[in-house]
Amino acid sequence: MNIETFELERRQSLWENLVEYNLTESGIHPFTLAELLDSDQLNELNNLRIGYGQTNGSISLRDAISKLYPSSTRENILVTNGSAEANFISIWSILEKGDEYVLMLPNYMQTWGLAKFFGANVKPFYLEEELNWQPDLEKLKDIVTKNTKMISVCNPNNPTGSILSEEAVNCIIDLAEEADAFIHSDEVYRGAELDGKEIDTFFSKYDKVLAVAGLSKAYSLPGLRMEWIVAPEDIAAKAWAYHDYTTISPSVLSQQIAEWALQPEKRAMILSRNRKMLNDNLEFFLEWLETRKHLFSFIPQKAGAMSFIRYNIDINSTELTERLRKEKSLLIVAGDCFGMDKYLRIGIGSEKDYLLKGLERFEEMLEDLIDA
Ligand SMILES: Cc1ncc(COP(=O)(O)O)c(C=O)c1O
Repeated sequence: MNIETFELERRQSLWENLVEYNLTESGIHPFTLAELLDSDQLNELNNLRIGYGQTNGSISLRDAISKLYPSSTRENILVTNGSAEANFISIWSILEKGDEYVLMLPNYMQTWGLAKFFGANVKPFYLEEELNWQPDLEKLKDIVTKNTKMISVCNPNNPTGSILSEEAVNCIIDLAEEADAFIHSDEVYRGAELDGKEIDTFFSKYDKVLAVAGLSKAYSLPGLRMEWIVAPEDIAAKAWAYHDYTTISPSVLSQQIAEWALQPEKRAMILSRNRKMLNDNLEFFLEWLETRKHLFSFIPQKAGAMSFIRYNIDINSTELTERLRKEKSLLIVAGDCFGMDKYLRIGIGSEKDYLLKGLERFEEMLEDLIDA
């Protein structure tokens, strides 16, 4: 059986290093090691032996991660290479052919493609723009059945940057409880809330949760590939056994850096640097949009560096982004990647000057389209 093309990742993989301006990034301008670490830590890295690490993550790193999750211990944590691997293992270790999988859309489309590949019956529920990118809970109640094996959310959401209301969170938990279903919660944008108020994790709100998170987005350290699953001990142990079949162990180098990044002071420094960048860039982006408001509508994100805008121009989103790439050397994500034509996802997490230049290219394209 062929796996469906993961359009979002494929387009980025193909073009992100070939264009002059890449505004497809969902994360925030990454740190250098020199910006992140002090000279003692850099020295320590010089002397670190680059062996295999403990395959589920070092004890000290899992301890550091578990401090972020009330009522968890290191036994609840599996460290993975990317939240992509954490999502993969969550789906692979739980879903079987024919299982009912209820998935929030729009979403980072990884588990949508994977679950279909594994033969699950994928039943979407939608965040609706008219509801401020919240789900219609009455519709959701009809979608979840006693046969539902897993409900999957992305909170904060990619691509809308929305955050589930408390009512929606409670409803999802109630529905999961009634169906005795797992909740898979991709929380990799948690920590990148623009107002600085970190949302609650689903973990510990219900006993069958696999929460996925890590350092790639809110912490702007994607190159470390340091992410994790937090789950009840038996589920974490099962996920670890599946992990033996994927990448064996996370890198010791990355684990050491991750441990430092999670130290309370360092963590606070990282998150506040990123929050400032996001707020500054969003303000700038909103000003940019304001002068073109006849062309766009936009509900600003509550978290993360993605701005998901709807446009009012007579051109398909894939065609528009292809023209931007070919004619303006600018890469942005087409709404089609989320099954939502007439939307674009623009990454605003880069340095301001870079964002400005990318938007200038977009502006040129708009002029071409409107003059035509
Ligand atoms: C919601 C979500 N989950 C997972 C990933 C995978 O990211 P990574 O493996 O770099 O942590 C992404 C990447 O954009 C994402 O947006």
